Amino acid sequence: MYDVLIIGSGAAGLTLALSLPKNMQVAVLSKQELSEGSTLYAQGGISAVLDKADSIESHIQDTLDAGAGLCHEETVRYVVENGPAAINWLDEMGVPFTREKEEDGSSHLHLTREGGHSHRRVAHAADASGHAIETTLLNRAKNRANITLFEHHIAIDFITTRRLGAAENRCLGAYVLDRQQQTVKTFRATYSVIASGGSSKVYLYTSNPDGSSGDGIAMGWRVGCRVANMEFMQFHPTCLYHPHAKSSLITEAVRGEGGKLRLPDGRRFMPEYDKRAELAPRDIVARAIDNEMKKRGIDCVYLDISHKPKDFILEHFPNVYQNCQKFGYDMATEPVPVVPAAHYTSGGIMTDLNGHTDVDHLYCIGEAAFTGLHGANRMASNSLLECIVFGHAVSKDIIKRKQQAQPDIIIPDWDESRVTDSDERVVINHNWDEVRRFMWDYVGIVRTTKRLERARNRMRLLLSEIDEYYANFRVTGDLIELRNLSLVADLIIQSALQRKESRGLHYTLDYPETNPELDNVDSILDPIRF
Ligand code: FAD
Ligand code: SIN
Repeated sequence: MYDVLIIGSGAAGLTLALSLPKNMQVAVLSKQELSEGSTLYAQGGISAVLDKADSIESHIQDTLDAGAGLCHEETVRYVVENGPAAINWLDEMGVPFTREKEEDGSSHLHLTREGGHSHRRVAHAADASGHAIETTLLNRAKNRANITLFEHHIAIDFITTRRLGAAENRCLGAYVLDRQQQTVKTFRATYSVIASGGSSKVYLYTSNPDGSSGDGIAMGWRVGCRVANMEFMQFHPTCLYHPHAKSSLITEAVRGEGGKLRLPDGRRFMPEYDKRAELAPRDIVARAIDNEMKKRGIDCVYLDISHKPKDFILEHFPNVYQNCQKFGYDMATEPVPVVPAAHYTSGGIMTDLNGHTDVDHLYCIGEAAFTGLHGANRMASNSLLECIVFGHAVSKDIIKRKQQAQPDIIIPDWDESRVTDSDERVVINHNWDEVRRFMWDYVGIVRTTKRLERARNRMRLLLSEIDEYYANFRVTGDLIELRNLSLVADLIIQSALQRKESRGLHYTLDYPETNPELDNVDSILDPIRF
C-alpha cells in the first residue's frame, strides 16, 4: 500500500515524487529503464521569464498567440508566473544548465530562443537539456528513502470503486505487469497519478522514443476521464532525414540561433509563409515544409547553419552535430536534410489547476494531461515547464488533502484463468504497423474529412480485433501498448472529425479557414457518451 502511485518517471513524475514529503510512501513506475522517456531526449530547453528585458506578460502573449485562440488564459498565467520558480527548483536540484560568465566572475543562465518566443527565454544544458534534467532528478529520487522506483513495470489498468461495483468513482491503484517476472501485481495507493507522457508513437515517423504509446491517456479514458483536443498532434519541423536516423530531432534552437530552411536549390521559403520566417510557431513551419515537399515532389528540405563558426556550433549543439555527423552530414559546412515528424500530444486527460481528473483520487500531469496551456499549438519549451509546474501543483494538493483512509474494499487479484499464451504474435506486429501507417497517411499534417472517415473505419475494425485478442491472450508489454495506442489513435480521429475548421495544428482541406465562433471551444470527448 502506497500513499502515492506515480505512473511515469519522466520530468513530471519525478518532480512530483521529489516534492512530496518524506513521510509519504511513493511508488514510481517506468515501463522500461527508469530514465527512458521523452524527457531524456529533450534538446532545446525549458522556457521561463529570466531576463530583465523579458516579461511575464510577453511570455503569456506568445503562448496565447501560438495556441491560436484555444489556450486557457488562467492556465497560461499560472504556468508562466510559476516559470522562474520552476527553473530555480531545477537549479537547486543540480541541473547543469549552460551559464554565461559575467565580467565580475559571477554567472547567469544562458538563454536561447525558439519558435514563437519574442525573447530569449529558454534555459538549457547545451542541446541535451532533457538528459540533464532526467538524470539529475532520477539520481535525487534514487537517494530518497520514501521513493521506491520500479523499472520494467507497465501499468495495465486503474482499479476504481466503480469498476468494483460502487456508484462513486474513486481510484484505488492499478494493475501492473512486471515485465521481467511476467506477473501482474496489484499496486494499491491512496492517490494515483498519470505521468506517462504522450502518444506520438501513433504515427509512423516521430521524434519520440518507442514508449510514447499514450498508455496513461487510454487508461484514464477507460475509467471515466474526459479527454480534450486530441486532434492537436504537433509535428516538429526538423527531424533529420535519413533512412536509418530513427527519431533524430534537430532542435528548434538551431533556428533560434540563426539556422535557415532552404529548398534543394538553396532558396529560403519561410519568409513567404510568415513574417517571423524560420521562427514562426511550429504548426506554421511544419505545414510550410509539408507544402513545399508536396508541391515540388521533394523528399526533404534543408536546415542550414553553416554560416556560423564551427566553434559556435560545437559549443551550442555538440550532440546534434555529432548525430548529424554519424549519418554523414557536417552541420558546420553544409545544410542537412530535414522533414517534419510527430512530436507532441497537445491534448490529453482533462485536468484542473490542481491536476485533478474526473476520477476521484486520480491526477494527471505532464504530456499526458490537457491543462489548457497549449491550445491549438504548443509553443517550444513550454512542455518541460508544464511538467515541473504541475508536478509541484499536485504535490501541494496532495499535501493539503492529507492522508485519507482508503475505502474498505477488497481488490481482487488480476484474473488470468481464462487466457492462454498468444500463438499469433504476428497480429500485434501487423496491427501496430498498420495503425501507425494509416495515421501518418490519413491523419497527418494536412487532413480531409474523407481521409479521416477512412481512418475511423479502419480503426473500428482494428479495435474490435485487438479487444478480442486482449480478452483471449495473456497480457504482454506489446499487447498493452497496442491496445492503448489504438484507443488513442481513435480518440485523435474522433476529435479531428469533430473540429470543422482549420486551427493551429489541425489543418483540413475541407474547412481551410479558422472559424471565429470556435475560439475557446475545446474538442471534449466524454467516455460516458461512447
Ligand atoms: P516522459 O518523459 O515521456 O516520461 C513518461 C514516463 O512514463 C516514462 O518513465 C515511461 O516509462 C512511463 N510510462 C509510460 N507508460 C507507462 C505504463 N503503462 N506503465 C508504467 N510506466 C509508463 N519539451 C520542452 O519543453 N523542451 C524541449 O527542448 C523538448 N525537446 C524535445 C525533444 C524530443 C526529441 C522529444 C521527444 C520531446 C521534446 N520535448 C521538449 C517534449 C518534452 O520532452 C515532453 O513533453 C516531456 O518530457 C514529457 O515528460 P513526461 O514526464 O510527461 O513524460
Ligand atoms: C526542440 O528542441 O526543438 C524541441 C523543443 C520542444 O519540443 O519544446
